[in-house]
Amino acid sequence: MPTVLYGNMKGGVGKTTNSVMTAYQLARKGYKTLVCDLDPQANATQLLRRTYGLQHGTDLKIEKTMMVALTEENIEPAIVNIMDNLYLLPSSEDFKNYPDFLEMKFMPDKEKILAGNSTTLQSEMAKVKEKRIAYFSKQLAKVHDQYDFIIIDVPPTLSIFTDSAIYATNFVIIVLQTQQRSLDGAETFFEYLQEMYNNYANIDFDIIGVLAVLLKNNAGLDSQILKDARVDFGDDMLFNQIIRHMERLKRYDRTGIAEKGLTKYDMHDTRLHYIYTKLTDEIIARLKDKGALN
Ligand SMILES: Nc1ncnc2c1ncn2[C@@H]1O[C@H](COP(=O)(O)OP(=O)(O)OP(=O)(O)O)[C@@H](O)[C@H]1O
Ligand SMILES: [Mg+2]
Repeated sequence: MPTVLYGNMKGGVGKTTNSVMTAYQLARKGYKTLVCDLDPQANATQLLRRTYGLQHGTDLKIEKTMMVALTEENIEPAIVNIMDNLYLLPSSEDFKNYPDFLEMKFMPDKEKILAGNSTTLQSEMAKVKEKRIAYFSKQLAKVHDQYDFIIIDVPPTLSIFTDSAIYATNFVIIVLQTQQRSLDGAETFFEYLQEMYNNYANIDFDIIGVLAVLLKNNAGLDSQILKDARVDFGDDMLFNQIIRHMERLKRYDRTGIAEKGLTKYDMHDTRLHYIYTKLTDEIIARLKDKGALN
C-alpha cells in the first residue's frame, strides 16, 4: 500500500491542491484513499470539508480532533468519510500543539544529560528525536491496512510535521512550480530527503517523479525552468502530465470540488477532472512499475 507525499520547501506551489485532487481521482478509480492533513494550516481539510458540504448539502462533523486522537494513540476515531472511497484524517486548530506534545512525551534521559559527556548527550538526543518523528508513522501503521492509498499533505517548512510525514511515507512526488524559488525549493527538499534517508535507518522511500505546475502567461520562464529541472532531476523523472494554471482550481478552495451529476458542473470541471485522471494514471503506472501496486 503506497503512502505518498507531495513536497517542496516553498509555500504556495500547489502541494495541497495536487494532494487532494490526486486523492479524489484515486477514490473515483476505486482505490480506498486516506488523506492525512499534517499541516496545521488545515488547507486540505478545508478543501475536503467544502467538498463534503457541496456533495452532501450538510456540514462535515468532526467528533474528535487528530491531535486528541494522537495523544490517545489511536487515530481511527478521528478519520472521517468524505465520499465513496475517500477518507480524511483532518487537521484542526489544536494540531499546532503537536511538537509540544512530542517534546513532553519523549524526554531525554536526565541522567545521560547530567553525565556531561557530549557523545552520550548527542546519541541520546538523536534517539529521542527519532522517537518523536516516528510517532505519527507508528500510529498510521495501525490503520494502514484498511486503505489502498495514503496521501499525506505537509506544510512548507522544515519542521517536526514534515519530518513525521517523511518518516511515514514510502513515496514522494516533488512539486515544481515554474519559478526560480520553486526550483530552489524543490532542490532543497530533494537534498533534505537525502539527508533524512541517510540519518535514519527506518526511513525508506522512493521518488515517483517531479510534477510541473506552470505559471500563468509565462511561457519563456516556464520552459527555461522545465529545462533546468530536466537537467537536475533527469528527463524520465518529470510526469508527462503538466498542471497548467487553472482558475477553476482556485475556485474549488472556496466551493469544494465539483462532481458531475452531484453538483453544478461545466466544461472547466470536466477538463480539470480529465487532467487529474491522467496524472493519477501516470502515478499508478509508475507505482506498478516499482511493484508497489498490483
Ligand atoms: N494549477 C493551478 N492553477 C491555479 N491555481 C492553483 C493551481 N494550483 C494551485 N493553485 C492555487 O494556488 C494557491 C496555493 O496552492 P496550494 O495551497 O495547493 O499550495 P501549497 O504548496 O499547498 O501551499 P502551502 O505551502 O501554504 O501549504 C491556492 O489558492 C490554489 O488554489
Ligand atoms: Mg498546503
